[in-house]
Amino acid sequence: MRVGILTGGGDCPGLNAVIRAAVRKGEAGYGDTFVGFRDGWRGVLEGLTMPLDVEACRGILPRGGTILGSSRTNPYKIDGGPARCMATIESLGVDALIVIGGEDTLGVATRLGGEGVNVVGVPKTIDNDLSATEVTFGFNTAVQICVDAIDRLHTTAESHDRVIVCEVMGRHAGWIAVTAGIAGGAAAVLVPEVPFDIEEICTNLVRRHSRGHYASVLVVAEGATPKAGTLVTVSGEVDAFGHARLGGIGNLLATEIEQRTGFETRATILGHIQRGGTPTAFDRVLATRFGVAAIDCVHDGGFGQMVALQSTAIVRVPLSSAVSELKTVDPGLLEVAELFHF
Ligand code: F6P
Repeated sequence: MRVGILTGGGDCPGLNAVIRAAVRKGEAGYGDTFVGFRDGWRGVLEGLTMPLDVEACRGILPRGGTILGSSRTNPYKIDGGPARCMATIESLGVDALIVIGGEDTLGVATRLGGEGVNVVGVPKTIDNDLSATEVTFGFNTAVQICVDAIDRLHTTAESHDRVIVCEVMGRHAGWIAVTAGIAGGAAAVLVPEVPFDIEEICTNLVRRHSRGHYASVLVVAEGATPKAGTLVTVSGEVDAFGHARLGGIGNLLATEIEQRTGFETRATILGHIQRGGTPTAFDRVLATRFGVAAIDCVHDGGFGQMVALQSTAIVRVPLSSAVSELKTVDPGLLEVAELFHF
């Protein structure tokens, strides 16, 4: 078969491992040839491709990012976009498309699949907020980067008797914040699932510091929001999928905490550091298993399906179920984090 591969949305450590595994199994196991689509759906829309074979994949396993490039292009927001995508696929003789992406990229795959394109999905996001898979690759790497940062922030916070607010990614779900917060011993974790009360945070900080702690590291997910009417926030510009650019709640919190408590407070926004660099061993293995499972799924004619991790096994689920519901943080995990608050 001739198989197209694309990576869409925010990049994520482990993307190259998926590509490498699908190509290796496809070439060696099935005699496939591949087309690499550049920059997510933009490549399919505009016919931007690159050669993709085992040779092109040498050395990419430990490399962050994606050799195919990525974008947030949404063909359904462009006049005639879906038809142009289908024309490209036909003209290149592509029999099936492996789509590696998060909720938005896979949402486009689901719709194109409904229009007759042979698609197989691979779930990707450091946010770990896709339902139908227990974990997405990239999440483990992002958490480790955050924990390393929190450990470092603790020593400088202690030297200066400061409060440090560490902002991590997590647009709709606080998986990174809560996991890194527990592992890093955060004084509090704020997540999008539970609106925070700034007054309560400050009261707790004052109490904590009156008990002899002079430093506190708070971990906040970028998508965390204050309880209605308690703080004014600003929202950023919106992308082709309607998502506002986040990143700023950490600064707002730091300013408010310093003003309300008098404690010297700093903010550190980890931002894209969490998405860059080499994947952990866990993510390399998960991504490799996903890549192999995706090409197997293509050859079983499992179109409209996505590979997923459930109870340590790689399974197939309908693509539509993968994007229909957001996987928010398990309340039990939040309770564990709260036990160590302040
Ligand atoms: O969806 C993954 C994610 O990393 C979010 O946590 C974050 O809000 C967003 O991507 C940032 O995207 P961009 O690369 O467009 O700034």
